[in-house]
Amino acid sequence: MIEVKDVRKDYKAGETTVHALRGVSINIDQGAFISIAGPSGSGKTTLLNLIGCIDDPDGGSITINGIPVTEKKAKDLALFRRKSLGFIFQSFNLIPVLTAYENVAFTLSLLGIPEKETREKTMAFLKEVGLEGMEDRIPAKLSGGQQQRVAIARALVKGPSIVLADEPTANLDSATGEAILKLMEDMNRKHDTTFVFSTHDPMVMDFARRLVLLHDGLITSDKGRT
Ligand SMILES: Nc1ncnc2c1ncn2[C@@H]1O[C@H](COP(=O)(O)OP(=O)(O)O)[C@@H](O)[C@H]1O
Ligand SMILES: [Mg+2]
Repeated sequence: MIEVKDVRKDYKAGETTVHALRGVSINIDQGAFISIAGPSGSGKTTLLNLIGCIDDPDGGSITINGIPVTEKKAKDLALFRRKSLGFIFQSFNLIPVLTAYENVAFTLSLLGIPEKETREKTMAFLKEVGLEGMEDRIPAKLSGGQQQRVAIARALVKGPSIVLADEPTANLDSATGEAILKLMEDMNRKHDTTFVFSTHDPMVMDFARRLVLLHDGLITSDKGRT
């Protein structure tokens, strides 16, 4: 469960201040498959970064799984973020010198998971995302869609309660993007992982079970459930 209450975020750029979020409140249930949609500059990335404990709001509060994350210090949040939150990015953000296998396994090694369990989980998740046989390829030897599959395995392998995906299909053609969304939906149902994904693409919005529209830092519409 994610509770966002009256969250504000400003960016100062020289003399001017950009009000990126101007009082956003939203509750998201465990297991949701929700899209935060809106045009470029509407505040989608800012909101995901705040929920992801990557940045702090200038006002309001966020509670995740009962933890008041906006009251905690950065160092106290590091472990929570590493264990409970998974991230998927528009540009995949894999480590270029590591293989598909190593990109996924690395996440578990950061959590101190023993080698045998790491190997089993990593192989199982790479298989789940359809990359069996491609474990030893580095990102440059994978297509965009395949790289995003690695990123999905990396986000899910640690069993997070929430996955945050910032425009996960923006760098993919529409057929590949659709396959990636279907995979995310499968993972959402199978693992009961909450998915919050942002987009400005109507095709992607259609996949969401709940669709929230953001405009100039405010929620203008909220439709559907979880
Ligand atoms: N680091 C930053 N410094 C200054 N302005 C920023 C920064 N990040 C985002 N902004 C501004 O905040 C607003 C919201 O940005 P963002 O959250 O990235 O929107 P979206 O992801 O919907 O495109 C935009 O006006 C953007 O230019
Ligand atoms: Mg963005």
